[in-house]
Amino acid sequence: MRVLSGIQPTGRFHWGNYFGAIRQYIALQHADEAYYFIANLHALTTVRDREVLRRNTQDAALDLLALGLDPAKATLFVQSDVPEVSELCWVLMTITSQGRLERCHAFKEKKSKGIAADMGLYTYPVLMAADILAYDSNVVPVGEDQVQHIEVARDLAKAFNHRYGEVFVVPEAKVMPDAARVPGTNGEKMSKSYNNTIEVFEEVKAARKKIMRIETDSRPMEQPKEPEGDHLYQLCSLFVDDAKRQTLATRYRTGGFGYGEIKKLLADEAEAFFAPARERRRELESHPDRVIEILTDGAGRARRKARQVLDRVQQACGLAYTNP
Ligand code: TYM
Repeated sequence: MRVLSGIQPTGRFHWGNYFGAIRQYIALQHADEAYYFIANLHALTTVRDREVLRRNTQDAALDLLALGLDPAKATLFVQSDVPEVSELCWVLMTITSQGRLERCHAFKEKKSKGIAADMGLYTYPVLMAADILAYDSNVVPVGEDQVQHIEVARDLAKAFNHRYGEVFVVPEAKVMPDAARVPGTNGEKMSKSYNNTIEVFEEVKAARKKIMRIETDSRPMEQPKEPEGDHLYQLCSLFVDDAKRQTLATRYRTGGFGYGEIKKLLADEAEAFFAPARERRRELESHPDRVIEILTDGAGRARRKARQVLDRVQQACGLAYTNP
């Protein structure tokens, strides 16, 4: 089984990224083969400052390694270091209908907010399909918001196979049921574009402040409350074990507590949960050369695999004319 996923270096990773995606990357890195990449070509659709993009790319690598991604087990690389993917993207573009991309919600949403829709944003799912299909990926661990894009990759793989023979592996999305859509501080999906995130490596004091400001309702303390569907409860559930979760659910159903106490519990649990990774990150920061080495080695391995798949594609559709 081959696992693959990508994450954009658009800023520091937040709890949604961690529980929806990164935690799965780490759990699945023991699979036969795992490829994880920093999607800087995708980030180019929003990050227009070269220094910021470079710094974000480095931060993304440090964060992933600190959180437990093991380069001895998984191949970690930067998307733009594998040019074969961009070439495959073009081939896929020739079989992608305009309507298919117009229906993608990420594009529709951004357009409805008045964000100028350039071709990068519009064809974003095709590049994502190329990312996935270039490595014969079977399983793609992601949060719920990416499932529709993986559907596009599946459709394109099937359409290509139908026309040219069995060239692509048809991938499947893998979503964590308990963290498919991690809520942000206002209850909406946690997302940088909604300004409701809490970052994994946020400074402890700043994280506490954000947690204490999580929006809650104004029901009186004594009133029993249903925990399911409550975003503060959902956030706590991500950090605690089953026994603590049960106790918390019982407290909700009994009533007689203040949201302030629950927020304090969340702040304590989150701080303890990420403390070892915070320590590892500090250590890694003093070895920037080691990070470059890991990414260079990863890119080499990723390119070899992508080259094989691209050769197959070129043969199948008649592109390999001078090199049959
Ligand atoms: P990105 O960078 O927006 O997000 C990275 C991962 O984090 C997940 N995620 C969440 N999961 C649960 N709850 C949330 N609130 C939450 N917010 C984010 C995302 O679902 C994602 O898994 N297009 C991709 C990057 C990409 C990619 C790929 C992924 C490029 N090529 C190929 C998989 C395969 C993206 O923008 O993810």
